[in-house]
Amino acid sequence: MKALVVLALLAATPAMAANGPAPEELVTLKPAAGLEVVNQNCGGCHSLDYVRMNAPFLNADVWKAEVTKMRNAFGAQLTDADAAAIQKYLTDNYGPPAS
Ligand code: HEC
Repeated sequence: MKALVVLALLAATPAMAANGPAPEELVTLKPAAGLEVVNQNCGGCHSLDYVRMNAPFLNADVWKAEVTKMRNAFGAQLTDADAAAIQKYLTDNYGPPAS
């Protein structure tokens, strides 16, 4: 029983994703406000795992730059409202822990 609980916790840790999940693995990001927008706009060109893999390093400014880069450099089609919602979602859920 105890081992099962530990396994469940490990599976829920985003950092574990950095160990090389299979490309076809269905990536599910944390449920929170804004997830819909991220799912609709950020999984088209690459796995949503990109978000999880980069999560430990990115704060609000860097997530903002990241979303801007997806739009300007790579051609992600986002409205300003969607971009703002995505930035907020990423910062709230995949930013560094508040210190
Ligand atoms: C039009 C295609 C496209 C869309 C849409 C897109 N990306 Fe990307 N993304 C890329 C490309 C191309 C790369 C870099 C090349 C690679 O490694 O595959 C990348 C890389 C990344 C990385 C890795 C870090 C980096 O800068 O290389 C992150 C994080 C990321 N994207 C997040 C997002 C988020 C968040 C969204 C939704 C706003 C998004 N992407 C939407 C094309 C896209």
